[in-house]
Order: sequence, then C-alpha cells, then structure tokens
Amino acid sequence: MGESAHDGIDRVPLRPGKQGLGSPFLLDWCEPVQNLSVLDLGCGEGYFARNLKRRGARSIQGMDLSSEMIERAREEESRERLGIDYRTGNATELKCFEDSSFDRVVAIFLFNYLSCEQTQTAMEEVIRVLKPGGCFIFAVPHPNLPFSRLQEPPFFFSPGEAGYFSGRDKLFEGEIYRRDGVSVPVRCVHKTLSDYFRCLRDAGFRVMPDLEELCVTPEMLAKDPEFFGPLTDEPLHLAFRVEKNR
Ligand SMILES: C[S@@+](CC[C@H](N)C(=O)[O-])C[C@H]1O[C@@H](n2cnc3c(N)ncnc32)[C@H](O)[C@@H]1O
Repeated sequence: MGESAHDGIDRVPLRPGKQGLGSPFLLDWCEPVQNLSVLDLGCGEGYFARNLKRRGARSIQGMDLSSEMIERAREEESRERLGIDYRTGNATELKCFEDSSFDRVVAIFLFNYLSCEQTQTAMEEVIRVLKPGGCFIFAVPHPNLPFSRLQEPPFFFSPGEAGYFSGRDKLFEGEIYRRDGVSVPVRCVHKTLSDYFRCLRDAGFRVMPDLEELCVTPEMLAKDPEFFGPLTDEPLHLAFRVEKNR
C-alpha cells in the first residue's frame, strides 16, 4: 500500500534524542501531543497523522491538495479507525478553520512543493489557526542538498544549471529510494535557508525557531551500511519547530 517515501530513509527507527532522518525524530518533536489538536498540512496518505493519533492526540485534521492522497488516507482510516478527519484542500487557504484552533500544525515535506510566496501565504495561515503558545513543526529537504549530493541513489535532486541563489523558486526533480530498492519521484521548489526564516518572520512568528539539520547517524549506518553509506556526512533534511507568541 502507498506509504510514500516514508518506506525509505524516513522510517528508520532512531534512538530518542538523536538527530537523524525522518519521522521518529519529527514525531518526538511534536511532543507533548496527548489531548492536543493537530493540523497536518500536506498529510499525503496520513502516515504522520496516524502516528500522532497513536501517541494520544485528541483530534487530527489531515489536509492535502491531492484528492488521490486523501482517498488513500481515508482507506487507511477505514482499515484502522483512529478518528482522523481528512479533507482535500490547499495549505495556502485555510479559511475553513477558525483562528486559534490548533495546538500543533505540522507540514512534513510540504514546502518543497510550494514557491516562496506560497510558503509565506501558508505560514500566515498557519500562525492564524495556531493557538497562542502552539507549535508549528515542519521539515524540508536541506537547501544545500541539491548542490552537495551526487546525482545517484538513494536520494538526490537535480538542480541542472541552477545555483544555490539563482535556483530560488525553481523546481528541481529528484528521486528517493526505498530500502527495497524502488525509487519514488520527489520534487523540490528550491528555497534558501534565509527564505524559510524570512517567510516565518514575515508571517508573524516572533520566537526564535528550533532548527535541526537531519543526517545519517552512526546507528543508521550500522543498521544498513550499503543503503546509508552514500549519505554519510550529507546535510539531508532541515526541521523547524517554532512557537506562536503567547
Ligand atoms: C512529499 S509528500 C509528503 C506527505 C506527508 N506529509 C508525508 O510526510 O508522508 C507532499 C504532499 O504535499 C501535498 N501538497 C502539495 N502541495 C500542496 C498544497 N498546496 N496544499 C496541500 N498539500 C499539498 C502533495 O499532494 C503531497 O501529498
């Protein structure tokens, strides 16, 4: 069943508290979630939403632009009833949600699909729907990855002739390989590190964000050296966690 790129490098278990790739780290970063309300923007087929619900979130709203993804998420919901509500929608238009409705908003690998302008619009909506003191957690491909990585498995983007600055807002196609060797096409509308900070600031976030550069850990390397070896010492993902002013 379609479990997206989380079947690959994102789903490798990590020791708590260790910087590393993917979902376990990001799920921990959403804690505490017990009895909290969560909006998962660009939820895909709901992998992250399901895991937050299993960790005790009170209510989860998943939203994705793709009706196909929402259909798949609902199929999962009918297989395992967790009480997650999924709807089709654009992360830049959250009018269906009232101000200060959510304790957490998460966007896992959403902004690589959005331009700088769309990212800022989405963040303006995020801060509006977050409760004061609520947290916004998001992950994106590391902005340097398309330029530092070789164009080969298990993970790369192709910037073509574009450079780090000249490539802003340009679409880079890429591939991410699952550990079973199957590749999944991925894309990234390139943004610089400053773009993410500017979007957050201009959207109204005033508190310094937590920032982690996710990379392959020694534990992951020991677990599957063939798969993770080529990624060693590469900055792969960036994770942000920022609080709305109380
Ligand atoms: C790489 S997938 C990540 C899915 C999920 N968050 C995960 O980590 O498995 C990105 C998702 O963002 C969705 N997406 C792209 N643009 C969007 C937008 N403007 N609003 C909402 N979702 C969007 C895509 O349909 C896709 O399902």
